[in-house]
Amino acid sequence: MKRKGILQLLEQYKADSREQKVNLVVGIYMDKTGNSPIFNVVKKVEENLISSEITKAKFNMLGSCEYQDSVKKLLFTNLEEKELDNILTVQTLGASGALSITANIIANKYPEASLWLSNPTWENHPAIFENHISSIKEYQFKPKDGVLDIDTIISDLSAAKAGDVVLFQGCCHNPTGIVITTDQWNKLASLCSERHLLPIIDFAYQGLEVDLVLDTEVLNIFNGYGIDYIVCNSFSKNMGLYDERIGALSLVFNDSKLTQEWELAIRNIVRTTYSLPPVHGSLVVTEVLSNPEFNSAWRQELDELRDYIDYRRNLVFNKMKELGITDKYLNYTQQKGMFICLQLSLEHVDLLREEYGIYIIDSGRVSIASLDETKVNYLCESLAATAYMIES
Ligand code: LMR
Repeated sequence: MKRKGILQLLEQYKADSREQKVNLVVGIYMDKTGNSPIFNVVKKVEENLISSEITKAKFNMLGSCEYQDSVKKLLFTNLEEKELDNILTVQTLGASGALSITANIIANKYPEASLWLSNPTWENHPAIFENHISSIKEYQFKPKDGVLDIDTIISDLSAAKAGDVVLFQGCCHNPTGIVITTDQWNKLASLCSERHLLPIIDFAYQGLEVDLVLDTEVLNIFNGYGIDYIVCNSFSKNMGLYDERIGALSLVFNDSKLTQEWELAIRNIVRTTYSLPPVHGSLVVTEVLSNPEFNSAWRQELDELRDYIDYRRNLVFNKMKELGITDKYLNYTQQKGMFICLQLSLEHVDLLREEYGIYIIDSGRVSIASLDETKVNYLCESLAATAYMIES
């Protein structure tokens, strides 16, 4: 029987009537009360919008110029205004929408290209790309001696042919949380340049690894190599706008004719699928990014959120250590972002859900962004107890 995916497990969790149930399924930030709060700055901007908005008929198929420009400035922190003009950034339905449009265009424009995904990766990546692209390949993404095993990635990707497309996650790798160092990004950019690969950067977690600016290192490095690449970013996590489905697709291409061809293709996909993107989220993002006061309030709230997730991670690691189970489930402790990735068997994942009401996805990925502090002991003690049950 097919195993349940992230959103199906969430449905199952909601229907579970047990009081002690713990939802660690989806990468959503939850506060101490179990609510995914609206950022204060977002609330403020929304209140202003309600009184000032005068139309719901803006008809910007690719998003407003203000939205596009403010997103560009947030992403490409080392480029001059003139260089930004060469980049096409369009509004999409979150990063997922951007990835889906990209997959669609690649399948049509480059039918011979294979798409390379990390193994493991976000559970929805293969599904999004398999909808369009027939040849999906994998490169291993795993730790070695506590850090990312870059040699294996380089060796796997050396089998890629010119014109192939490779997906990287710009920061906070989902599910592993393994950090990619500056030196390693340079190696990856150099490989893409030498082998003429087209990188897609899935940038769903900007601001959740180190901070909003330092997390753009990967884009600065790719700019330095002068190669064509694509960025798919989202404001779900870093502005808490999950349900608004607000993100962007950016094309950093050297050839303006190619950018124009892609723009036409994007317009065609948008027109034939949803016609126009929803506007509310884009108005909020534009205002937060372009108003200096709101911008700095947002950065502060985001910093606090990230620090709090890191604090939760430490609580879990420390408790696991205290219970003597760290080595068993963590083959590296330097993880960043919304998740902790444990080495659990499917049997273990099922047992935790069925016996303890702890919901974790099959990869062993635990959303600590959703973890209520008061449940840390319960989680770790359940892990220890079930480990014993599985062994005996
Ligand atoms: C996750 O990985 O949990 C998030 O990106 C939410 C989702 O849609 O899967």
